[in-house]
Amino acid sequence: MTDVSFSAPKGVPDYVPPVSREFLAVRETFTHEAQRAGFEHIELPIFEDTHLFARGVGESTDVVTKEMYTFEDRGGRSVTLRPEGTAGVMRAVIEHNLDRGQLPVKLVYSGPFFRYERPQAGRYRQLQQVGVEAIGVDDPALDAEIIALADRCYKSVGLTGYRLDLSSLGDAECRPAYREKLQAFLRKLPLDEETQRRAEINPLRVLDDKRPEVQEMLVDAPLLLDHLSNSSREHFEVVKGLLDDFGVSYTINPKLVRGLDYYTKTCFEFVHEGLGAQSGIGGGGRYDGLMAQLGGQELSGIGFGLGVDRTLLALEAEGVSAGSPRRVDVYGVPLGSEAKRVLAGVVNNLRAAGVSTDMSYGDRGLKGAMKGASRSGARYCLVLGEQELADGNVAVRDMNNHEQETVSLSAVQAFLEERL
Ligand code: HAM
Repeated sequence: MTDVSFSAPKGVPDYVPPVSREFLAVRETFTHEAQRAGFEHIELPIFEDTHLFARGVGESTDVVTKEMYTFEDRGGRSVTLRPEGTAGVMRAVIEHNLDRGQLPVKLVYSGPFFRYERPQAGRYRQLQQVGVEAIGVDDPALDAEIIALADRCYKSVGLTGYRLDLSSLGDAECRPAYREKLQAFLRKLPLDEETQRRAEINPLRVLDDKRPEVQEMLVDAPLLLDHLSNSSREHFEVVKGLLDDFGVSYTINPKLVRGLDYYTKTCFEFVHEGLGAQSGIGGGGRYDGLMAQLGGQELSGIGFGLGVDRTLLALEAEGVSAGSPRRVDVYGVPLGSEAKRVLAGVVNNLRAAGVSTDMSYGDRGLKGAMKGASRSGARYCLVLGEQELADGNVAVRDMNNHEQETVSLSAVQAFLEERL
C-alpha cells in the first residue's frame, strides 16, 4: 500500500452498484420510450469545435460565458466538452444531410454533458441526459407529442411528484418588440449593476431572477404571453389543446425562461417538488432559427433534455425504485473443483440462452456462497454438491420460498427457462 488516494473530480458523481442499476434503468426506460415514438439513436462526439456552442447556445448565456470546459488541443484548435446536445445534433444533421430526407428527422441521444457550475445537491459538473430532437416540421402537434413523451418517460420510471411548466417564447415577429418593451420597463427599476447589464444583453433572463426582492419589482413586468404574434398564439393554443386531449396536465408559467438562447415558441420545464433548489428534472422547447444559425436550412425543430441524475434524486425523494433489485436470475453454487467445472459449463450455456447468470468463485464454503446467491437477488440458485454430481443432478433452490428440487443436469436449462 502507498499513501496516494484519489477521488472523483469535484462535482462529478460516480454511480456504483446498487445505485448504478437504478441509473441504467432510468436511462434505458427514457431511451426506449423515445424509440417507441419513432426516434432513432444518434451517437454524438463528446467534444466539438468551441464555436459551435458559442453560436448555437448563445454568446451571452451563462453556459457559454462561464461554464464551458474549453481547451486547446495539441493541434491548436479550440475544442469544448459538450455542455448540451442540441447544437451537436444540428451540426450532425446538417453535415450528413439528414434534413434533405424524410421530415421530421427524429433523433434520440444519451450520455454525459459538462458544465463548470458551482457543485451542489443535484447540480453536477458532469451531468447525464437523455435528449430527443425532432427537426424540420413546424407543427404544434409535434410539440405536444414531445411534451407528452417526456411526461410518459417520467411516469414509466414511477415518478409522480412533478409538475410541467409551459410557456411560449414567441417568434421573430413578436420577440423584438416585446424585448424593447421589457427593457424599457427594466430600465426604470433600481436594479444592481450586473442585473442592469443583463437587462441590456438578455432582458428575458432577468425575469428568471430567483431573488425575492427582484421578483417583487417584476410583478408588473410586461409578459411575452400577452404580446405573442397571431401565429405564435395559434401555435400555443393548439399545443395546449392537444395536451388537454392527452390528459397531460400543465401549469402556464409566463415567466418561464430557459438557460439557452435558441428557444422560440413552445418551451417547457418539468419541475420536481422534492428536490430543493435544483428542481428542474428536464426541459426543452422549439427552436426556429437554430439550424440556419449553424449554416443549415431555415428549418424549425423541437426537443428536450431529461436529466438522468436529477430523475434519480427525485425517485429517491419519492422512495420509488426504477431498477430491478435483481442482478441476475440464476446463481450457481459449486461445492468442490469438479462441481465448479461442470457448473461453469451450465452457467455458460444459460448465459448463451439469454438467462442472466452468475456463480460463486474462489472455493467458498456453502454458507459464504449462499450469501453471494442471496446478495445477487437471483430467483433460483443451483447447488452442485458431491452427491448431485455423482447422480448427474443439480439441486435447484427457489430463493423466494426456499423450496428445493433435484433436477437432472441435462434438463436444468429447460427447467429454468420454463420458470423464468
Ligand atoms: P437544459 O435545461 O439545460 O436543456 O438541461 C436539461 C436537463 O438537464 C435539466 O432539466 C436538468 O435536469 C439537467 N441538468 C442540466 N444541468 C445540470 C447539472 N449541472 N447537474 C445535473 N443536471 C443538470 C438542455 O440541455 C437542452 N439541450 C434541452 C433541449 C433539447 N432543448 C431542445 N432540445
